[in-house]
Amino acid sequence: MNKNKNLKVTPLIGLQWGDEGKGKGVARIASSLSKNDLVTRFQGGNNAGHTIFHKGKSYVFQLIPSGVFGKVKIHLGAGMVINPYAFLKETERIPEEISFLSRLSVSPHAVLVMPTHLFLDSISEKSKGKKKIGSTGKGISPSYTDLVMRRALRIGDISQRDFKNRYKILRDEHKKILKNIFQYKVSDKELRESERNFWQGIKFIRSLIIKNSAELVAETLAKNGKVIAEGAQGTLHDIRFGNYPFVTSSHTFAGGVATGLGIPPALIGGSIGILKAYSTRVGEGPFPTELGGEKSAVWCRDKKVIDEKEKFPHPQIGSMLNSKDEFIQGVALRKAGSEIGAVTGRLRRTGWLDIPLVKFAMKINNTTELVLTKLDVFNNFKKIKVCTHYIIDGKATTKIPFDLSREKIKCIYKSFPIWKGKLSDYHGKPTRLNSRSGELPKEAINYIKYLEKTLGAKIIYVCTGPEEHECIERYW
Ligand code: IMP
Repeated sequence: MNKNKNLKVTPLIGLQWGDEGKGKGVARIASSLSKNDLVTRFQGGNNAGHTIFHKGKSYVFQLIPSGVFGKVKIHLGAGMVINPYAFLKETERIPEEISFLSRLSVSPHAVLVMPTHLFLDSISEKSKGKKKIGSTGKGISPSYTDLVMRRALRIGDISQRDFKNRYKILRDEHKKILKNIFQYKVSDKELRESERNFWQGIKFIRSLIIKNSAELVAETLAKNGKVIAEGAQGTLHDIRFGNYPFVTSSHTFAGGVATGLGIPPALIGGSIGILKAYSTRVGEGPFPTELGGEKSAVWCRDKKVIDEKEKFPHPQIGSMLNSKDEFIQGVALRKAGSEIGAVTGRLRRTGWLDIPLVKFAMKINNTTELVLTKLDVFNNFKKIKVCTHYIIDGKATTKIPFDLSREKIKCIYKSFPIWKGKLSDYHGKPTRLNSRSGELPKEAINYIKYLEKTLGAKIIYVCTGPEEHECIERYW
């Protein structure tokens, strides 16, 4: 990280549709941070799934900031929606030797996800039929809806005397909506168990440090500490500037840091963008560079991992990746990159890197540095492609139109040759890399340099494997 960012909050934001490897990016950066520094979430809830490999084991964090394995302070910020039981369960999965409770705090302004929010989410999604969004079903949208309707329960309400009563009133309101609008009657049995869990989660939250996000940020900056605001989902999922309505219900881009932590925009510095070397998308919505187009979208919507394994049992990844059939290439890319939803287990749709969309994301995030992830997934490819421009109304452009649907957009692609062998062969080499010593294959360096030039930002880490240390720190 730039030293001159010390007195600013640094947003760390996914530049695509989530699953860019933010967890790993934050974990890598957090490993160099100290106990005076802070990693904080500012939006979303347990719809996120940040996978971190730590000491040979894989962890998926959904609410807890990815800095948990470091020494840093970690915080669940005001703009979040928090499912208390999911939060409790997540903390229980953290190995005992990691002491984190004294470093962890939660904003009183964050919204509580109630059991009935989960019913509302899944039932309303089902009622949309073919027009569904592809929600993770974690109750995110109904929780934010209650916030906007000015009736949500927040973390700070837990200590109020009328909390239980307010809970019951809102729960009954939800039940009424479920019954009257969706003709769904929640049975007492269904609700009993999830409510028991909810109250267990509330008890746990009562034992935690409740702290105002803005105060925590101000205190940290005042002591010259660094602050990382860890985004969840991706920029293209933003409620306003993403591919609406196929978006999540919060502000996922750097603009959300101010409102999600309650800090002045002037305190927010340039952001670090997490960029996967190709694109993926889980759920519905436009995806201009999708390999296999509509066929892939339908396959990933209707099929499960097991179906894909049956249909493509012994993937000849090499030959599939280089198949003439783009759908097959997409399947191979999904397998090579293990592109299966960390939260939902769904097949992620796969496609080439989309420069116009990434440029747009970088612009609205003020991205000044990049972390390039999953470059190693291109091992075994002969060549890969990047969408450099769209053709709209017969003209090449990098401007993003209001309507991104498949029929409206054609992409212009540029091809890149790929190295022979594996980038993992470079693990264990000094992490500081100097191109002059030729430690990475020239094809990889050319690709990295092309991205830097085209996107106008420096790539500070190139990640070539799932472990935290499998990131090469750029040094040229
Ligand atoms: P929701 O946030 O669960 O309502 O889902 C809305 C959309 O965002 C769906 O297309 C989800 O698949 C997508 N989404 C939500 N969280 C994530 C994430 O962490 N990674 C990728 N996609 C996500």
